[in-house]
Amino acid sequence: MSIIIKNGILVTASEVSQRDLKIDNGKISMISSQINGEKNDTIIDATNKYILPGLIDPHTHLGIEGTLDDFETGTNAAASGGVTTIINFTDPDNSQTFLEDLREWKNKAKNSLIDYGFHSIINKCNSDVLEQISKLPDEGVTSIKLFMAYKENMVNDKELYLLMNAAKKAGIVTNIHAENGVVIDQLIEEALNKNNTKPIYHAYTRPPEMEAEATARALRIAEITEAPTYIVHISCEEALKEFIHAKERGVNAFGETCPQYLVLDEDYLKKEDKEAVKYICSPPLRTKKDQDTLWNKIKSGSISTIGSDHSSHPYVNGKENGINNFTKAPNGLPGIESTLLLLYHYGVCEERISLSKLVEVTSQNPAEIFGLYPQKGSINIGSDGDIVIFDPNKSTVLTKESQKQGTEYNVYEGMKVQGYIDYVLSRGEVIVKDKKVIGKPGRGNYLYRDKFNARS
Ligand code: URP
Ligand code: ZN
Ligand code: ZN
Repeated sequence: MSIIIKNGILVTASEVSQRDLKIDNGKISMISSQINGEKNDTIIDATNKYILPGLIDPHTHLGIEGTLDDFETGTNAAASGGVTTIINFTDPDNSQTFLEDLREWKNKAKNSLIDYGFHSIINKCNSDVLEQISKLPDEGVTSIKLFMAYKENMVNDKELYLLMNAAKKAGIVTNIHAENGVVIDQLIEEALNKNNTKPIYHAYTRPPEMEAEATARALRIAEITEAPTYIVHISCEEALKEFIHAKERGVNAFGETCPQYLVLDEDYLKKEDKEAVKYICSPPLRTKKDQDTLWNKIKSGSISTIGSDHSSHPYVNGKENGINNFTKAPNGLPGIESTLLLLYHYGVCEERISLSKLVEVTSQNPAEIFGLYPQKGSINIGSDGDIVIFDPNKSTVLTKESQKQGTEYNVYEGMKVQGYIDYVLSRGEVIVKDKKVIGKPGRGNYLYRDKFNARS
């Protein structure tokens, strides 16, 4: 029995064309101008709708202690937003090795609805750690993440150098959280000493210059180690300038931004304190000018991917702790289910990017960079039948009542966006239909990713 999607407009990173699509045994088996089904086939009519490859969200934080989304609720939310693969970050537990961390995280993810992989966060450096990095590809993990900020996790420059070197040798791409944590911690201390505790001081103490400085430093180290490097959540023009300079020098660097930096700005941190604390994330929300630059750099190809950076911190006993002192609010925003709708509305409908570019940055590029292509990332014969059927003629309102993610708030509350997600298929199985998640938890597969093999 096959699944046939008929009369839709098929979108890939290179073309948009009217095509029918057939899926057998979870894989795309035929793409043609007309496919006629047989008696037992399931036919889905996609007249006037787009057929997109499922999104790959390369930046999620499901299953973190104290947050509201585990792998079941988080992947339900992801799927309802058209995401069919996530690459989630582990969270180092300093009582065990990184390989033990990873095995624990694989176990935690067993109730995932969609396919998943991991980036290993590495927060220290010694000979054991360097040895463990060389073993990660055997576990299917071909990316690590290093922090240049956050006291509990940041590594220093010597460690950056050694870890990036080890990653390069192992065929692993290094993700970098690029902010100068040392200077930022000093700025925070100075702000608190002056009683500058309001949420907007979160942004004032993490200025764009410190994101740019760390970006430049990481990419200079990448230059001498020749380590492929992926800068996560780029938020501002200053960091982009450094990033583009490095690429022009030949550094194999990839850049990611997030919907929140494209759609929200620092004015949200100036709202009344109870509301503003919801918007605390790092790097912080920036200005409208930064938004324009980010969109332009997606369009030009400098920025390769969009990750949600989904972090489902609760409001009660979470974000609210920062009302009288911004440093007490946990960092990060929820948004795993709204990437496609936001990019379609603010990107495609507002003519900032094409539909093919949307597919490139949300599916093909993350698949290529993180060792999943061609199994994932496009609509090709032999690829997994991970498909979104998207109705551009309907609209959706983003609200906390209608969301699937676990938070008591939605940072896009009330936004009416063009587009509606009709169906989501994962390996040929309908897992979302008309906003209802019908796939069962635990059906997601762990993805053994290939070693790094991409060029920026
Ligand atoms: O504020 C953020 N982005 N929190 C999530 C952790 C990280 O830095 O990616
Ligand atoms: Zn980060
Ligand atoms: Zn993150």
